[in-house]
Amino acid sequence: MLEQFQAGIAITGCGACTPQASVDNFGLSQIVETSDEWISTRTGIKQRRLASPDDSLSAIATSAAINALEMAAIAPSDLDLIILATSTPDDLFGSASLIQAQLGATRAVAFDLTAACSGFVFGMVTAAQFIRTGVYRNVLLIGADVLSRWVDWSDRSTCVLFGDGAGAVVMQALEGGCDRLLGFELRSDGTQNHFLSLAYQAQPQELIEGVSVAKGIYHPITMNGQEVYRFAVKRVPEVIEKALFRANLSVDRVDWLLLHQANQRILDAVASRLKIPDTKVISNLANYGNTSAASIPIALDQAVRQGKIKPGDTIAASGFGAGLTWGAAIFQWG
Ligand code: UT7
Repeated sequence: MLEQFQAGIAITGCGACTPQASVDNFGLSQIVETSDEWISTRTGIKQRRLASPDDSLSAIATSAAINALEMAAIAPSDLDLIILATSTPDDLFGSASLIQAQLGATRAVAFDLTAACSGFVFGMVTAAQFIRTGVYRNVLLIGADVLSRWVDWSDRSTCVLFGDGAGAVVMQALEGGCDRLLGFELRSDGTQNHFLSLAYQAQPQELIEGVSVAKGIYHPITMNGQEVYRFAVKRVPEVIEKALFRANLSVDRVDWLLLHQANQRILDAVASRLKIPDTKVISNLANYGNTSAASIPIALDQAVRQGKIKPGDTIAASGFGAGLTWGAAIFQWG
């Protein structure tokens, strides 16, 4: 019975928004013992955008969403669903509903999805399930993070890596047996959770005798960089190969490799393992650093608006990070 409702997926619009303030590696060398040379050679990052205390996650996410809706030429009132992939909401109860209100997307149901730097890819696959089953036709997927709120600005091993921003795509139902989401694969491994975390730390508070609650705080990001690096260069090629297999495509059919922008060395190593030439690798982390769930849609938006990615191009996207989580989606743009 379900089959008569099945629709395909088209990704019809994208948008991005990053905060105005930009800090380069020289600026960071004024607050921690580091250098432009170390950061550039180890990561490829030159500068990053940082949200001011007046910025909010929901405001930059809403701006990115408006740009994506404009490109897709649909009104906020046409949206059925909004998924906000973020680990840094303005409110722990979620920020998607606030974005729904700011957009005036009165018909849309909205919720947050947490899968750290894999959030955008996980969100794309989640959105696809609602479209394929015929439940929703127009979905807005946003990847947004302001990790600057959660970085220890005295820890040089993490603070140089991250930046803030938001990116969004519009995903729409496609009739006639066409489907531009060609394949995907998602994975998690919680046994390695401790390699990258932004953990809650309980501070017991006794309410009445024998009953205590944990009235704690979140600690800044901690990361075992070498372990996360090893994980990424091994697992990301595997998951892309699996998604390509599901798409029934060989790697030479990939027009663009669009990875979570964590480190240029990871991008290079993954491309080299997959034998994808540098010319097909999308990279913007020199200017933005690692923007977590936002990095893939921001890079996608730039490449589309620069005319690099063209309608019909096949993109292999992969997110990876805390959880640990990782995943890949193979899709055609436009
Ligand atoms: O989105 C989440 C995904 N996260 C990632 O993808 C991160 C993956 N990991 C990485 O990208 C790399 O491991 C880093 C860029 C984080 C670090 O590069 P590395 O080549 O693994 O460096 P390392 O941690 O082995 O550190 C080498 C040295 C150490 O000094 P000693 O012990 O050799 O004297 C560090 O203390 O570099 C030192 N160091 C720094 N020096 C200058 C660490 N951070 C800095 C810094 N400036 N910012």
